[in-house]
Amino acid sequence: MRVSINDIRDMKRKGQRIAMVTAYDYPTAKLVDEAGIPMILVGDSLGQVVLGYESTVRVTMEDMLHHIKAVMRGAQHALVIADMPFMSYQADVATAIRNAGRMLQEGGAGAVKLEGGEHMAETVRRIVECGIPVQGHIGLTPQSVYQLGGYKVQGRTLKAAAKLIRDAQALEEAGAFSIVLESVPAPLSRLITQRLGVPTIGIGAGPHCDGQVQVLHDMMGMFTDFVPKHAKRYATLGDIFKAAMAQYIKEVQDGAFPTAKESFTMDEAVLAELTSDPRPRVTTD
Ligand code: KIV
Repeated sequence: MRVSINDIRDMKRKGQRIAMVTAYDYPTAKLVDEAGIPMILVGDSLGQVVLGYESTVRVTMEDMLHHIKAVMRGAQHALVIADMPFMSYQADVATAIRNAGRMLQEGGAGAVKLEGGEHMAETVRRIVECGIPVQGHIGLTPQSVYQLGGYKVQGRTLKAAAKLIRDAQALEEAGAFSIVLESVPAPLSRLITQRLGVPTIGIGAGPHCDGQVQVLHDMMGMFTDFVPKHAKRYATLGDIFKAAMAQYIKEVQDGAFPTAKESFTMDEAVLAELTSDPRPRVTTD
């Protein structure tokens, strides 16, 4: 049975911490799903860690749908959440509903995530009314990086902290089934988590959230341009990858690969006939 938004809400009620991770393709979705992750986010972080863009702003609906379909083929149990890319929901509610619908109808996702607090609450409400589960995302919202002036911790002043609390409450009232808190001081995340009925999922938001999300390529050491402060390296797959590749290159150069084990045989009689035939293989007239 696939994890539902009710299962996720129940986890908060039961005091069970929720692990969420990003995935962008079939093999990694299959691996994280088989490891038992309850929620997979096909994040627009895709833009940076897979497509090599400087920010998430360049990611399109078509990019997202392409990767969501691959993740859905790999993940059999987790709730898969589709990130709504920049400008797929901001311009007007009708466009937001249409694009959110595409994530479920064409992509096969079970929910969508979008960035923004109070000002997006009406959009969230209308999408939810259409039967599409929504995860909110407040604090550092990377799609607004140019407006925010960089990837900075949010909610440090009284005014900014009060605004984040209002944002979280507005999203819950609008029907969001959970809310991502990104780059928010830990004590503020605790306050927000205590005040909400729906689970908070933190990234750079301290240990008091109901759950945590990590970008797969950061935690596995597959994205090496930089390591965000909120990321913990659980493996260094990039190093393992490069060492394996260096060995492959060397073995090809040395003639050590392939061996008989990786090669195919053929009938000796056919081979004998071929090698005893003196005729040239190609004739020109
Ligand atoms: O796109 C993403 O990976 C995200 C997470 C950082 C929450 O939005």
